[in-house]
Amino acid sequence: MNNVTLTIDGQKVTVPENYTVLEAARSAGINIPTLCYLKEINEVGACRVCVVEVEGARTLQASCVLQVQDGMVVKTNTKKVREARKAVVELMLSNHKGDCTTCERNNKCELQSVANDLGVKEVAFEGEMTETYEDTSSPSVVRDPGKCILCGRCVSVCSKVQNVGVLGFTNRGFETIVTTAFNKDMRDVPCINCGQCIAACPVGALKEKEEIDYVWDAIEDPNKHVVVQTAPAVRAA
Ligand code: FES
Repeated sequence: MNNVTLTIDGQKVTVPENYTVLEAARSAGINIPTLCYLKEINEVGACRVCVVEVEGARTLQASCVLQVQDGMVVKTNTKKVREARKAVVELMLSNHKGDCTTCERNNKCELQSVANDLGVKEVAFEGEMTETYEDTSSPSVVRDPGKCILCGRCVSVCSKVQNVGVLGFTNRGFETIVTTAFNKDMRDVPCINCGQCIAACPVGALKEKEEIDYVWDAIEDPNKHVVVQTAPAVRAA
């Protein structure tokens, strides 16, 4: 594998030619925020939080899907970049159920953390929100599309890592949601209750059902009781 040398924020960085700009920046200790990126699992450029300026390019580029090139000059922290990232996060928050303080993921939420880092203090764009409902039908996974940021991490993990594929995108534009085939309840699809989608979710759109539910299920019918096997292996790299 050949190496290439590029300049990131004024620093010369030499990396293998198959690296992305994000990987090159991280290898040099330069932080670029990400939300949809999961190394080798979900490299889809969906969230646009990782945008950077590249000399000679007319638009900002998503660094997680941009392959390095020899002589490339990249800036990761200009005013234009920061404003674009902030606008992206503000748009996500404008269509996001705003119960952060009581959310299961409060203080462990990647969206919250990126918003804090970017100085987002209020919902800048108020208006219509995508109509969603919380699916609590599964014995193990609670799915709340009202908090989903459409990063696709759960979809990739469910299909590519677990080879199950019960989650996918449906609808178009503002109506887009991640859901099951034909929008069925989680209890009616062949979910294996592995919990990997929960581990991959950057926000509170997927969470484990509270223990109390298991207890009641077990009391009512011990044969129905399902234990979630949450494997914390899949996290943002
Ligand atoms: Fe690059 Fe989401 S992390 S587009």
